[in-house]
Amino acid sequence: MEDTEAKNTTFPSSLFSFSNPNVSFGFGFGAASGPPPPPPPPALEVLLSEESPVTGGNLEPVVVDDSLSIYKGRVNTCDVFGVKNSDLVPGKYEGGLKLWEGSLDLVKTLNADIKDDRLLVEGKRVLELGCGHGLPGIFAGLKGAGLVHFQDFNAEVLRCLTIPNVKVNLFKEPSQGTFTSSSVGFYAGDWSEIDNLLLSGATVQDKSTNHHTENDGHSGYDIILMAETVYALDSLPSLYRLIKKCLHYPGGVVYMAGKKHYFGVGGGTRQFLRLAAEDGTMQSDLLAEVTDGSSNVREVWKFSFK
Ligand SMILES: C[S@@+](CC[C@H](N)C(=O)[O-])C[C@H]1O[C@@H](n2cnc3c(N)ncnc32)[C@H](O)[C@@H]1O
Repeated sequence: MEDTEAKNTTFPSSLFSFSNPNVSFGFGFGAASGPPPPPPPPALEVLLSEESPVTGGNLEPVVVDDSLSIYKGRVNTCDVFGVKNSDLVPGKYEGGLKLWEGSLDLVKTLNADIKDDRLLVEGKRVLELGCGHGLPGIFAGLKGAGLVHFQDFNAEVLRCLTIPNVKVNLFKEPSQGTFTSSSVGFYAGDWSEIDNLLLSGATVQDKSTNHHTENDGHSGYDIILMAETVYALDSLPSLYRLIKKCLHYPGGVVYMAGKKHYFGVGGGTRQFLRLAAEDGTMQSDLLAEVTDGSSNVREVWKFSFK
């Protein structure tokens, strides 16, 4: 599915399930075949001022609820990566130019949790992993987050899409809101090597041994958001390690939206949950279940330290 087809779905406030036969999702991820992908591009920070000349053009509203729309651009893969209608080119492009439906599931779940006082975003440090358009992170910004960092595999995605989307939604008028260039950050690179960049300036937490030191509790992100990031089985361990390293202990929470299974690439929410269960550090709660009439099921999960 591309763009805003899921915009009119409404989510009850607690565990929910609904069916929307109009929603379709042409999943273009193919099974990995051929030679191994090239090494990932180096991790780097992209500045707010580095907006690309290839940007989204006409803005389209994505309706969150009666009182809130988030605006997004549209950029095609041919203009940026020279590949036509592709969802994924392993090691080169990881799908960030397209708006995946999980990100809307995530925004709606966050909205429901905020309305029902299960989530406080105001003043929090937020990280969106695998952001693409960055709508969940932008939503957190609109709900008063103190800082929002956006990560994508591709610097080009941040420059062409995420930064323009952030500017149009969070920097509308100087008089509106309190966002400044220091309240947002943009980071490109592979999950396996971006931890230091994300945590630069803060004490890096190492929870790989499940051992918490005195420093814990003073660094890391309060809220980590991610949508449609768990499709590739191979990258799940590095994604899980990154989350554990970057999440504030003990109060941090992760909201993850994704499909139960991604056919052809082997990943899925359940594979990610299996990793978390084997590690034993975090507890998981199912917040939302979305059926779209096809055989696939989308879910939103919340993780927190036990
Ligand atoms: C399917 S797109 C989802 C984009 C967006 N969250 C959405 O739902 O519209 C997957 C995202 O995960 C990120 N990603 C995938 N594999 C990655 C990796 N190994 N390291 C870093 N980022 C990765 C890419 O940046 C890409 O934007």
